[in-house]
Amino acid sequence: MVKAVKMDENGENYGKGRKAVEVRDITCAYNGHVALKDVSMDVMRGEFVAVMGPNGSGKTTLLRAIAGIVKPVKGEVRVYGSISYMPQKDYVNVNIPMKVWDVVAMSILAKGKKFRWSVKLSEEEKKAVEEALRAVAMFELRNAPFTDLSGGQQQRVLLARSLATKPDILLLDEPFNGVDLPTQEKIINLLSELSNGGITVITVVHNVSPLIHHVSKIALLNKTLIACGKPEEVLTAENTLRAYGVSIPVTVCEEGYPHPLFGDIHG
Ligand SMILES: Nc1ncnc2c1ncn2[C@@H]1O[C@H](COP(=O)(O)OP(=O)(O)OP(=O)(O)O)[C@@H](O)[C@H]1O
Ligand SMILES: [Mg+2]
Repeated sequence: MVKAVKMDENGENYGKGRKAVEVRDITCAYNGHVALKDVSMDVMRGEFVAVMGPNGSGKTTLLRAIAGIVKPVKGEVRVYGSISYMPQKDYVNVNIPMKVWDVVAMSILAKGKKFRWSVKLSEEEKKAVEEALRAVAMFELRNAPFTDLSGGQQQRVLLARSLATKPDILLLDEPFNGVDLPTQEKIINLLSELSNGGITVITVVHNVSPLIHHVSKIALLNKTLIACGKPEEVLTAENTLRAYGVSIPVTVCEEGYPHPLFGDIHG
């Protein structure tokens, strides 16, 4: 089960250096088919975590379990603070007959337990929409129909939706798919800034290299959690072999960060 614990409950678990997410020995299954087995991990407030693993390794399932969408058949997830979950684009119906601005504004109206039927945003909320669209370089296209956008542009708007709600914990499933390199870099810098400011960022990526200088932790999955920790501890030849079935060469850059030599692994 997922327990949402308020950040300031009893004045505990408040501030950086405290837990944001606790995953305790969870197993998740779809119709008896185990997708994730005996996974435990802690994420501290303000951490920037990359979740990696081959196709079908349970990355999306882990995010869904943290978001409370998938109920583990065993174990428990605790989250401390509000969550925004950006699903993998493959699972999003992109035939949204709305303008870009409204797609993002909707996320604010839908925030919290009750949907607000009033379509008027406050000035502060409008500012949040604008900031989120600017962060993904989509403000100029705010009046375009969402369906007219390219795949990468749609991806950026979906990310803006999550940013606009200003959550404590951001869960992003493959946010850079189809996103051009300059925009990707801009978004990575923003996520890094957010995590430095105490927002917890947990993102699924296939190619970790562009993020490697910013992430505090990598969780490497293949149904079980192969490894979880600092990039240099996780990205070893042994661990990548166990996760992907092939040993992936890793080069260490001048600053000492490991860069796996693969682009987009589909194994
Ligand atoms: N809704 C579902 N119903 C049945 N099986 C599912 C469902 N979602 C996922 N699975 C299965 O659970 C396993 C893990 O899937 P998951 O989507 O978590 O993997 P992933 O690591 O995110 O993969 P990808 O890199 O392709 O996005 C796979 O074997 C998948 O077929
Ligand atoms: Mg997935």
